[in-house]
Amino acid sequence: MKLKSLLVGMALAAPLMFHSSVHAAVDKLTLKLAHNLDQEHVVHKAIAQMAEEVQKESGGKMRIRIYPNGQMGGPRETLEMIQAGGLDMTKASASEMETFANEFSVFSLPYLFNDEAHFKKVLYGPVGRKLMKETASQGFTPIAAYVAGNRSFYTKKPVNSPQDMKGMKIRVVSTPTTNRIIELLGASPAPIPFGEVYTALQQSVIDGAENNEPSYYQTRHLEVAKFYTEDQHTSVPDYLIISQPVWDKMSDEQRAIFTQAALNSEVYQQKLWDEEVANSRQKAQEMGVTFITVDKEPFRQALRPLYDDFRKDEKIAGWIDQIESAGK
Ligand code: GCU
Repeated sequence: MKLKSLLVGMALAAPLMFHSSVHAAVDKLTLKLAHNLDQEHVVHKAIAQMAEEVQKESGGKMRIRIYPNGQMGGPRETLEMIQAGGLDMTKASASEMETFANEFSVFSLPYLFNDEAHFKKVLYGPVGRKLMKETASQGFTPIAAYVAGNRSFYTKKPVNSPQDMKGMKIRVVSTPTTNRIIELLGASPAPIPFGEVYTALQQSVIDGAENNEPSYYQTRHLEVAKFYTEDQHTSVPDYLIISQPVWDKMSDEQRAIFTQAALNSEVYQQKLWDEEVANSRQKAQEMGVTFITVDKEPFRQALRPLYDDFRKDEKIAGWIDQIESAGK
């Protein structure tokens, strides 16, 4: 009797089981993914959701094992590990990709986007998608792009204008572009890894850094640099990266599962982002942070020479034109 009801139960469940694992025919694959963000960060949450979806849609055959919090180093290290074949996936900001494909430097151009709608139109439209194909020859490729708001300066002493930054040491994701931004503002750039910025601020090795609100809050940098100047100089997206050889070796079906999950993670991350910014700002305020509203014009003027430098390179000038025309 018991056996009979079990068989009936199984028969009833069967169509459902097959339905939830339509892709169960795919081969087994476990990928290692390392990044430098906190598990509370919405980019981590989006990646974690993607990992879950990949596992579910492949009927448990495909898995992504995530190593967060810089356990395997910063993006520079993880991208190099991917190139050497020791890691399958990572997250890198457009700045962090600049050394591998200089087209990504356009995202570090100050005040390039009119507003968030313009930024998203570029990131998720033909220009941004074309840009994502530019690193294949470097051995890796982005499969998802994530918004990251605006980067602004935060410092131990208040900054109301570029004048106040003179002589300050400011941590940046060090690239030729970000270093030049700091120099044009009369300060000196400090190439400190993300995970070491807190101590550098605490010990006054640096006077400040720059980032969006969620990173400023989650890293607790606000405890040691209490002034957040809303100059909003850049909008630098994050990318989910996969090794090109790993991608090429996947079957069409495996790639289809990945592509869909990556697209879904983009949508999910955008949904979480605005909420996270509001939440971080509120928490920061509660913790005694002063948000300083500034006239952006002096910053824009001081940083203008970067555009002349960039436009000397025809290829880069072409990208800037495409981005600017998407905003018209
Ligand atoms: C942001 C960004 C990260 C980047 C970090 C940094 O948090 O999302 O990708 O690594 O800034 O400044 O290093």
